[in-house]
Amino acid sequence: MKVLVTGGLGFIGSHTVVELQNEGFEVVIIDDLSNSSEDVLDGIVAISGVKPHFEKLDLKVKEDVISFFKKHSDVAGVIHFAASKAVGESVNKPLMYYENNINTLVYVLQELSKLNTQNFIFSSSCTVYGQADELPISENAPVKPAESPYGNTKQIGEEIIKDTCKINENLNSIALRYFNPIGAHFSAEIGELPIGVPQNLVPYITQTAIGMREQLSVFGGDYPTPDGTCIRDYIHVVDLAKAHVVALQRLLENKNVSNYEVFNLGTGTGSSVLEAIQSFDRVSGKKLNYKIVDRREGDVVAAYAETKKANDVLGWKTELNLDDAMASAWKWEQKIRNK
Ligand code: UFG
Repeated sequence: MKVLVTGGLGFIGSHTVVELQNEGFEVVIIDDLSNSSEDVLDGIVAISGVKPHFEKLDLKVKEDVISFFKKHSDVAGVIHFAASKAVGESVNKPLMYYENNINTLVYVLQELSKLNTQNFIFSSSCTVYGQADELPISENAPVKPAESPYGNTKQIGEEIIKDTCKINENLNSIALRYFNPIGAHFSAEIGELPIGVPQNLVPYITQTAIGMREQLSVFGGDYPTPDGTCIRDYIHVVDLAKAHVVALQRLLENKNVSNYEVFNLGTGTGSSVLEAIQSFDRVSGKKLNYKIVDRREGDVVAAYAETKKANDVLGWKTELNLDDAMASAWKWEQKIRNK
């Protein structure tokens, strides 16, 4: 069965391609290489022994999306990762984010809606919950006003899919709300490749440990949490990738109970920034240089997933813990810096 993975050379996309190929799917990747590299294909081949079909394509170019779907009208499903994802950048470039994340989604859905088989998996985010009133956060928690244009594109994206599903009963879709994806494939053949100064915690930790950054700034030590630092649900990217395969299989086997479903993807365990650093120190045998500084604007205090729906309904749960994820991230960082 042929599956289209948009953004398939990106961080989560590439790991999902590997898991899809492991399950015997034929993968077609579309990527515009704006935040990825064609070299990622070599990593995918090194792990799975199979080279996926790749087309460099910009989903903002509607004509190209139309011709792609004409050529690949036999796709059994689409997993749509392609999007811009830097929260801070989105504040400065809102129109770029709306164009990159919304226009492309609309074009893909328009063309998918013309096919006989219409299965769609969407990359959403726990950012839609903002600071939830109750923890852990269940799928029933209300969506809060977005803190950034990036977050807004995920909320609007979900609305667009939901509205389309209402009038198109042939379209079956699942929105997956990720908590904090981290780590890399155990083989260190693929992983996260942040461009410039990393904005996210784990790449900043590993780049500090390898000597590329002087010191990690821990944003805020006076939050109302046990150790004063923010709490997040860090999920290993390989666990996350596997959830996409399970979600796709759910649609392919017509097991979905409605044509628009939402699942949280997290471990269910919250870890503070200091606990994340301790985990890194434990698995790397290093002592990370860090300093507690002022809070970062827009950070929620705590977010971790209620995993019951994903466990019971999707039949998926995480198998790897924070130490596994940190160890794999560290192995990857050492590999790409040739150390
Ligand atoms: N942090 C630091 N120092 C850093 C980087 C991060 O202390 O250099 C802290 C943050 O303050 C936060 C935690 O580490 O408490 C995690 O931060 P990340 O930037 O790694 O992740 P976020 O939880 O901020 O971001 C995630 C997703 C986004 C999503 C956002 C919404 O990566 O896609 O949640 O809350 F939009």
